Amino acid sequence: MCGIVGYIGGKEAQSILISGLKRLEYRGYDSAGIVTIDKKAKTTLLRAKGKVAELDSKVATHQTSDTAGIGHTRWATHGEPNKRNAHPHHVGDIYLVHNGIIENYQDLKRTLAKHDYTFKSDTDSEVLTALIDYLYKDASSLLEAVSGALKMVVGAYGIALFSVKNPDEIIIARNGSPLIVGVAEDEVFIASDASALVGYTDRVIYLHDGEIGVCTREGIQLYDVDTQVVEAKVEKLELDLQSIQKEGFDHFLLKEIYDQPNSLRSTLSGRINPQTNSVKLGGLNMSDDELRDVRNIMIIGCGTAYYAGMMAGYFIEQFTDDVSVRSEIASELRYRSFHVPDNTVALIVSQSGETADTLACLEELKRRGVKCLGVVNAVGSTIAREVDGGVYVHVGAEISVASTKAFTSQVAAVTMFGLMVARAKGVSSKDLNTYINELDMLPGEIEAVLERSAGEIQQIAKKYAKYDHALYVGRDTHYPIALEGALKLKEVSYIQAEGYAAGELKHGPIALIDDRFFEVCYLQDNWLYEKTQSNIIEMNTRGAHAIVITDTDKRIAAEEVIRIKTKLELLTPLVFNVVSQLLAYYIAVARGNDVDQPRNLAKSVTVE
Ligand code: G6P
Repeated sequence: MCGIVGYIGGKEAQSILISGLKRLEYRGYDSAGIVTIDKKAKTTLLRAKGKVAELDSKVATHQTSDTAGIGHTRWATHGEPNKRNAHPHHVGDIYLVHNGIIENYQDLKRTLAKHDYTFKSDTDSEVLTALIDYLYKDASSLLEAVSGALKMVVGAYGIALFSVKNPDEIIIARNGSPLIVGVAEDEVFIASDASALVGYTDRVIYLHDGEIGVCTREGIQLYDVDTQVVEAKVEKLELDLQSIQKEGFDHFLLKEIYDQPNSLRSTLSGRINPQTNSVKLGGLNMSDDELRDVRNIMIIGCGTAYYAGMMAGYFIEQFTDDVSVRSEIASELRYRSFHVPDNTVALIVSQSGETADTLACLEELKRRGVKCLGVVNAVGSTIAREVDGGVYVHVGAEISVASTKAFTSQVAAVTMFGLMVARAKGVSSKDLNTYINELDMLPGEIEAVLERSAGEIQQIAKKYAKYDHALYVGRDTHYPIALEGALKLKEVSYIQAEGYAAGELKHGPIALIDDRFFEVCYLQDNWLYEKTQSNIIEMNTRGAHAIVITDTDKRIAAEEVIRIKTKLELLTPLVFNVVSQLLAYYIAVARGNDVDQPRNLAKSVTVE
């Protein structure tokens, strides 16, 4: 949600800032801007509505050789997306970029107005800029002014700013909105997301909440909010250039769908072994006794991460009879009354590790003394750092806003955790082996679907791209997949899509069926085959345009049947889900949409 970049060093800053913003664009893309400053404190501020490409074309005609600057790509919260509201904001001596929300900005704005401040934008960020400018007039340093301002604001922020009074210093601060600093010889890079730093340096410092950093060409000095010196821990950045490039694919979404066999192998690698029938997650920080005592698992996430938790929960309840699993939407859980029974472990599922609602649940659960484990992709992210233990899914950078490879690996990771609990409780090695074997086979099975079925799915997608609405239906383990399939379609195609439990059709949604709708039905050849088939027949009778995804050769009456050959039984929904991912992708492409950066969405939602 919004991207921040910054640079101070010896190189030309504009191109570094623009290249960083392009990599961060998936976090927000309503408007973008950069400001650079030369040694004599002359600034060049460029801002544009829309994508970074718009900004880039302005840079072409306003090139500078300045070697320090800050930039921002925005996902609007306060104020509509236009040039006036775009960052960097400029008030008095200060230029500033901000991620997050300043909740008390109206109060601060009124106070500042009494001191003759006027505002050009509708944003909370401009108010913060003015506040720092105001305090700077009487402060001994910019650091002191920033510290004073941050003590007055309520809300979340990641900020980068400089003053025209000192062109050799950029100040950054974080509270609830990520910031990472890349350090190299005589230069410092600033970013809200590690992907902007890849290729420049692999030595990084993750800012913690409450920290302020003063960046100069010599390096960075960290302070707490009372301006006491804090020691910075330099870590190695585990992200390679390959994972942030399209590698010949038309879109990141398609690349990431195709990444899945390998990204899943990374998730499983060293953790399961079908030969020894073992499953081991190194970072849980839980003994076998503690695992044995687990009676309840709460799985918490937003969007696709929530559905991943739900999917894995269905698996876990299949192989353990001594554990109850509940999946929770983080934005709901954080504000409602809820009870946590004894012997509960909470799994916090998040690709980015920064989602505000998910993080808020983590904080609340920790406050209640609940053991919290992270299922996170972004190494060093806030959730990864705050949990008691956990498992990285290791899928590499996921750039497309619609999540695909993270989903598959989140399901695998949570399932492995469930298997560890089941094993500690003495589940039969036969049952354990069934799951471990299927997890082991899953990457190859997904690979086979990608090889065999993508062409067919692309053709079918062309036919259904004209519809306005879609229903996704499935039973049991195919219900979470129906929800995730519908989410994928709506995110990238803008077709209104709903996921439903097939048994619920008669209780309402069947009334919708007409020629504006198509239906996606998940029909596995298992004990619910007949029941699901009846639901499909009920829909056909009402004139459905059904696409059935199935693993059977049996005759099926439907407008389209996508047949998948798989050796799997239990994890088949994860293979069917790859079909839904491709269907959503090809439909979105057929409709001419920007599939990697769908309208109104952002990859990482770091505000409520
Ligand atoms: C946003 C993204 C989704 C993602 C969700 C949760 O809505 O667009 O793709 O599933 O946030 O993100 P997280 O990083 O917590 O998994």
